[in-house]
Amino acid sequence: MIDIWKNYDYMCEEVSSVIKAKSLYEPHFVLGLATGSTPIGIYTNMVADGWDTSKIITFNLDEYADLPYNHPQSYEYFMEENLFAYKQFRKSYFPSEKNYRNYDVMIQRFPIDIQILGIGTNGHIAFNEPGSPRDSLTRKVKLTQNTIQDNSRFFDSMDEVPTHAYSMGIESIMRAKKIYLIAQGKHKKDILEKACYGDITTDIPASFLQEHDNIEVFYCE
Ligand code: PGA
Repeated sequence: MIDIWKNYDYMCEEVSSVIKAKSLYEPHFVLGLATGSTPIGIYTNMVADGWDTSKIITFNLDEYADLPYNHPQSYEYFMEENLFAYKQFRKSYFPSEKNYRNYDVMIQRFPIDIQILGIGTNGHIAFNEPGSPRDSLTRKVKLTQNTIQDNSRFFDSMDEVPTHAYSMGIESIMRAKKIYLIAQGKHKKDILEKACYGDITTDIPASFLQEHDNIEVFYCE
């Protein structure tokens, strides 16, 4: 199930070229976007390629609660810096206080053709931490102390770290027609193997992805 790539750049080129090919073929293409360090190379490729993305609708997996959209640590800011400042999209959505109750209805209306997905070292996908149920939908989640601690390195002080976030659920993610689960670095190898080959369990939210019938898992050191 895990496709091992020799090189991070090749791995990202492959995903971005599939996105390009599919979106040129499908006029109402919908792309699911992820933040974090791993997908940056995909966005760099998309920016470097001059193809027209202005008809594509995007949905991001998650967003912090109680951070202004222009805060440098908000996921909207991240997407702006890495992709949206350079490429135009038809409409881009992030889950928020205003829309999270309707987010899955919005996705139902514009089903995600390709979802880019990362995995945390504890097996989380988006902000679905261990213990998240298989049937979870988009919701407001309380961040674990562990995640708050991990994220504090990006903020000036602990008090500034958001305690809550909005996140697509496991069920919301599983509804994507195609998923690319991508991971880079030796520190991700063990959890990726457990997620792909181990028991399907809420202890490792990514393990539910074994039940998806159109997923590709890419790994590189
Ligand atoms: P990353 O992690 O920043 O290494 O891509 C993704 C994640 O924790 O979901």
